[in-house]
Amino acid sequence: MKLRSRHLLGLEGMTREEISLILDTAVSFREIIERPIKKVPTLRGITVLNLFYEPSTRTKISFELAEKRLSADSISFATATSSVKKGESLRDTVQNIEAMKIDMVVIRHSSTGAPYYLTQCINSNVINAGDGAHEHPTQALLDMFTIRRKYGKLDGLRVVLIGDVKHSRVVRSNIWGLKAMGASVAICGPSTLMPYEVEKFGVEYYTNVEKAIEGADVVNIMRIQLERQTAGLFPSMREYTNLFGITKERLKLLNKNYTIMHPGPMNRGIEISSEVADGDSSVILEQVTNGQAVRMAVLYLLSGKKEEAEQ
Ligand code: CP
Repeated sequence: MKLRSRHLLGLEGMTREEISLILDTAVSFREIIERPIKKVPTLRGITVLNLFYEPSTRTKISFELAEKRLSADSISFATATSSVKKGESLRDTVQNIEAMKIDMVVIRHSSTGAPYYLTQCINSNVINAGDGAHEHPTQALLDMFTIRRKYGKLDGLRVVLIGDVKHSRVVRSNIWGLKAMGASVAICGPSTLMPYEVEKFGVEYYTNVEKAIEGADVVNIMRIQLERQTAGLFPSMREYTNLFGITKERLKLLNKNYTIMHPGPMNRGIEISSEVADGDSSVILEQVTNGQAVRMAVLYLLSGKKEEAEQ
């Protein structure tokens, strides 16, 4: 079993077998990051460029560490101190860096489709680290890895994604991935934060949080993305918290052995209470740890595809 593409642009269209391959591969990398010496020679000689046009804490550091743990040569590009500030285009920027002989590019960009666009301009493998409101595939993979690690399966679990569905690339990638893996998926949020033609996702959707989370195994809570909202899409933060915030009181509606997730960064006291975020059922920091193993798996599996393409 191999991945069909040499890029990771999104989980839409990815098969259950491909997702399982990534998650299974991440299991052995998860073990490596618990070792006293967290380094293997797997990607020695491979150069990876981390190209972040948008802010990031978890994804950027996680990719950088994953590359170092695999012995890749890793370079990170800061737009604020680069010639992007002089007006250089994405295409020219990346083609110039590729001329210095890199093999893989990890890109985060505010524009949907920027990772796909790069695949048309350069020869390196491209990994999407979040593009606009489109997809964030490695986040959904690490979310699925975390759920599977706890329950031993994804099949048949009820997973509810709550919050700013309209602007969330994490929701989209989770929907495609979880559906492929046989989970029962529901989304919930204010009607103003639901995308047009929401029914096309093929999942249950709710504007009432109590109804959505009743009997759920996993609740994955999305951040309210103030930076992506061009208009006031709900009257006030207090009203959002009252209607959709996940509090200890609301947890009573969930299944026994429930799990609380959040991709971060969290707005504590808005979409999630501190009690819930720091509670025994929260796996928020475990998601971050698992993210490194999942990204090591993605880098490893895609680097093999480049070697194949060059033979
Ligand atoms: N979850 C996530 O993508 O976090 P960062 O924006 O910090 O990378």
